[in-house]
Amino acid sequence: MSKKPAPRANISALLQEKRVFKPAAEFSARAHVKTFAQYRKLWLESVRKPDAFWRKQAKAELVWQKPFAKVLQWKEPFAKWFVGGRLNASANCLDKWLETAHANKAAIIWEGEPATDGRAGEERVLTFRQLHREVCRFANVLKRHGIKRGDRIIIYLPMVPEAVVAMLACARIGAVHSVVFGGFSAQSVADRVQDSGARMIITSDGGYRRGAIVALKKNVDEALAITDANGDRPAKSCEKVIVVRRTGHEIHLAEGRDFWWHRELDYVDANCPAVPLDSEAPLFILYTSGSTGKPKGILHTTAGYLLGAKMTHKYVFDVRDEDVFWCTADVGWVTGHSYIVYGPLANGTTCVMYEGAPNWPEPDRFWRIIEKYRVSILYTAPTAIRAFMKWGDDWVKKHDLSSLRLLGSVGEPINPEAWMWYHNVVGGGRCPIVDTWWQTETGAIMITPLPGATPTKPGTATLPFFGILPEVVDDSGKPVPKNTGGKLVVRKPWPWMLRGIWGDPARYKETYWSEVKHSYFTGDGCRQDEDGYFWIVGRIDDVLNVAGHRIGTAEVESALVSHPSVAEAAVVGRPDELKGQALVCFVTLKTGQAATQDLKNELRNHVGKEIGPVAKPDDVRFADALPKTRSGKIMRRLLKQIASGMEIKGDTTTLEDLSVLAKLSNPDE
Ligand code: WT7
Repeated sequence: MSKKPAPRANISALLQEKRVFKPAAEFSARAHVKTFAQYRKLWLESVRKPDAFWRKQAKAELVWQKPFAKVLQWKEPFAKWFVGGRLNASANCLDKWLETAHANKAAIIWEGEPATDGRAGEERVLTFRQLHREVCRFANVLKRHGIKRGDRIIIYLPMVPEAVVAMLACARIGAVHSVVFGGFSAQSVADRVQDSGARMIITSDGGYRRGAIVALKKNVDEALAITDANGDRPAKSCEKVIVVRRTGHEIHLAEGRDFWWHRELDYVDANCPAVPLDSEAPLFILYTSGSTGKPKGILHTTAGYLLGAKMTHKYVFDVRDEDVFWCTADVGWVTGHSYIVYGPLANGTTCVMYEGAPNWPEPDRFWRIIEKYRVSILYTAPTAIRAFMKWGDDWVKKHDLSSLRLLGSVGEPINPEAWMWYHNVVGGGRCPIVDTWWQTETGAIMITPLPGATPTKPGTATLPFFGILPEVVDDSGKPVPKNTGGKLVVRKPWPWMLRGIWGDPARYKETYWSEVKHSYFTGDGCRQDEDGYFWIVGRIDDVLNVAGHRIGTAEVESALVSHPSVAEAAVVGRPDELKGQALVCFVTLKTGQAATQDLKNELRNHVGKEIGPVAKPDDVRFADALPKTRSGKIMRRLLKQIASGMEIKGDTTTLEDLSVLAKLSNPDE
């Protein structure tokens, strides 16, 4: 066993915040952008003359089947980029490489979770040529099942290469994929089937997670039973389910509805030309949490998104031909879309894809993988970094990580202590760290250092990427002075911005373009320091960031009140050392229901079942009543203070019944 890491004093974290890490000369010398002055010049050019800048970039970076006529058509808040152009995302990721030396280069190096020799996992390598062939074949399967341009397809798969193949096969024929993270529940799948009007689900018998099997196909059966029972399944919705065989356990196949992936391949050939699609053809929908109970289907389109994924991957990770890139996110999140699939493949980069958990069979699985494949760029999340810190340095130090040259972080603010650990223990003090801020909605990275150019400071995502104009503003939309907190907005449209919320233009306008005039509102709080660096302080709406997952408190509340014993629920966040934030639920029960430990467990599982394990509450507390204002609004501010064990501060005069507070602060447990 490893020894526990030495406790770290808070004071050191505070001191380190002031530290500045300049890019090493050797790194800068070989980088795409070599100096801060060069970054500055390009950025200024990109925001002063966006039309010329994007025209040049889009021509240089993408392969067009028909050139675009106009760079941007902007009717706030609706953007059309590269108007009139035609291209295909799968052709840009695959066909582009066929006639080059990249054809036989590994596109995906996949490692399965089960450890075959007790340590290392099963391995599959797909070259660009092989991946192209698989994508063409599967695209033909889709066509054989009647899938047409514009049809939506739900992909609900574990981290297996078929997930990438399925995404690119959709892109090849103009179908719109909506990947649903394999950790989501049957109910979540049902909601997304309904909202997207998907015609097909691509799933697998199951997936592996920490040695156990996650029964994905069973969830799909349940999801379709839910939509059938609701009568919400429009005609022609989810007529077909394609099933990848992964775990091999027994599943039910519904005659005429469900088909094995491998069997279907027998009926098709590998000839499938990429369809020339409009620049603005929908590429994918990805559901994310907002401040209401209903997940939002974030829509991204073809050309602008692809340009963003490709350019940010190239410049932020400073990729070179010989790199082995590993983004540890799941393809079910936007990070996986942009930095496992579209960005790296469009750049011809070799990617590692790992199926399972970081601590399976032991807490050194990541380091083992880096050593084995000589990974040179690692992109992971602060919550994972904190878990590794907890598991101890020895697990890391056992492995040769000398292949690493660059480290990335995404998903939530990285605390300086974790930043320093990542830098020293994982990076051996020699790798720059790129702390990248972005969102499902922004499609690709927005605020980030460029590793050869930008001096970094632990805890800040630093400065905007090319063409991005972020600002920190007050409630009236005016920029705030340096070192003052405010709302983070983006002042100008950018090619990889969301184009809308699926089926709900009014909500799109309301959520993102109404809070601050003529600006995209991110929902994040932020301050800029004296150097103009952006320090994200977290969400300011009712959305929590739990282990890097955005979870709407309203969603969890609506799951809780759907339980027959629950009368009312309020969900708030409490700071958590590992997860960043933890979910604390205050619940009042219907008359006659006993407040037992069993019921607490049942409610936790109920939320897990309704939304998925990522949303399982950390803490359920029963209360006789919730603190409310006289107008009936739950006072979350107070609940937050109670949840974090803080002294209750601020105005309580609007509280309807003061005795409620006292009871909540002294729970009987
Ligand atoms: C929210 C977006 C970006 C893909 C993964 C999450 C937080 C993300 C950072 C960062 C501080 C960050 C923000 C943002 N966030 N990256 N580097 N520093 N905060 O995508 O689920 O859409 O969540 O994650 O709060 O709004 P998402």
